[in-house]
Amino acid sequence: MAIDDAVNIEDLHRMAKRRLPKIAFDFIEGGAEDERGLERNRAAFAKHQLVPRYLVDVSARDQSQTIFGRKFGSPFGISPTGTAGLFRRGADMMLAEAAREANIPYIMSGGSNDSIETAARVAPDNTWYQLYAARDGKISEDLIRRVADAGLGAVVLTVDVPVRPRRERNIRNGFANIRGTWLKAALRLKPAVLAEAMTHPGWVIEYVRHGGTPNLENWVPYARPGASVDEVVDLFGANTPAHSQTWRELEKYRRLFPRNLIVKGIMDPRDAVRAAEIGVDGVIVSNHGARQLDQAPASLDVLPAIKAAVGDRMTVMLDSGVRRGADIVIALCLGAQFVFFGRPTLYGAVAGGLPGVKKAVDIFRTEIDLVMGQIGAPSLDVLGPDFLWSDDWRRNV
Ligand SMILES: Cc1cc2nc3c(=O)[nH]c(=O)nc-3n(C[C@H](O)[C@H](O)[C@H](O)COP(=O)(O)O)c2cc1C
Repeated sequence: MAIDDAVNIEDLHRMAKRRLPKIAFDFIEGGAEDERGLERNRAAFAKHQLVPRYLVDVSARDQSQTIFGRKFGSPFGISPTGTAGLFRRGADMMLAEAAREANIPYIMSGGSNDSIETAARVAPDNTWYQLYAARDGKISEDLIRRVADAGLGAVVLTVDVPVRPRRERNIRNGFANIRGTWLKAALRLKPAVLAEAMTHPGWVIEYVRHGGTPNLENWVPYARPGASVDEVVDLFGANTPAHSQTWRELEKYRRLFPRNLIVKGIMDPRDAVRAAEIGVDGVIVSNHGARQLDQAPASLDVLPAIKAAVGDRMTVMLDSGVRRGADIVIALCLGAQFVFFGRPTLYGAVAGGLPGVKKAVDIFRTEIDLVMGQIGAPSLDVLGPDFLWSDDWRRNV
């Protein structure tokens, strides 16, 4: 199937699965432990229904959304996804470029294979930086300084990785062994995993041609001069997760970063309120795409309580499980001001490089536009719980 023939995100998903060896695809796809959270995330959207209102003039539909005083072309953006360059070489900047073109935010991962400074050149007005705090506080402070110096609009602090999760697919596949040069990686992999990888020559040729696993570019300055990719990865591994990080560090980041500070991974209204009190500008309600705590609720299910707790004191955003434009509209009806997704644009990057990422973005944009037309919502500001079907029929009278 060619990229142009992809009709929905599921088509890109299937194409990405075909191109990648199992060890790589499983890293993107997998959740923690029994992966119940993955099902819970999808089920949370599936249980809502949108009630169409007709005889409304929907000849002009505007899906632009303003947050942090900045107007974006759509109410969605790209969540941070680490090691994207392993799945498609140069993927980080493909995500950045597609975001710039669509006028949506791109959140560069704390484990990206490209640098803050490069992203600031490619998409200066669309890149935000996701911070994984380092055990060495000086590294965290320097990363925040670099984001400020580069002029990027936001630091997104991910708080839902206090400890490293167990993603059992990765343990079985030996995912941690894909590192360093291609030869080192090949010698470390289990024979069955290596043999399976060889049945995906497109990816293998790209991997070998580039010498092996891409570097964690943002961390290169903190390693010794001339450090190998392995050494940089070890430095990152020794510094993250920052187990002892608390609200005190968040207060410090607030003092250090002059522009928008966002906390990603908030799931409890009390934590959202505390973040608002510290002066945080926004939260991304997220269970990390079900990759951290398998027993966590779906972010969509906790969204209304968080919105009720913080009101308009901060911008409330959401990710985890979004695969359709209708999912985004549902989240907006439940109080989110903005919505993100992680895997869909990665599927696009793997399936077709930059055109694949653009395709994923375009699919979401088209689907939102059609849903807005169907439900009689010419702009996003009319959305609210009234558009959601309730078993209490009186509410819809
Ligand atoms: C391959 C992959 C890598 C990820 N890396 C990061 C990361 O570096 N930092 C982070 O905050 N979240 C990371 N996430 C989580 C995403 O930012 C996001 O919360 C999640 O993908 C949303 O769920 P969705 O994939 O169902 O849209 C990653 C997710 C995936 C799939």
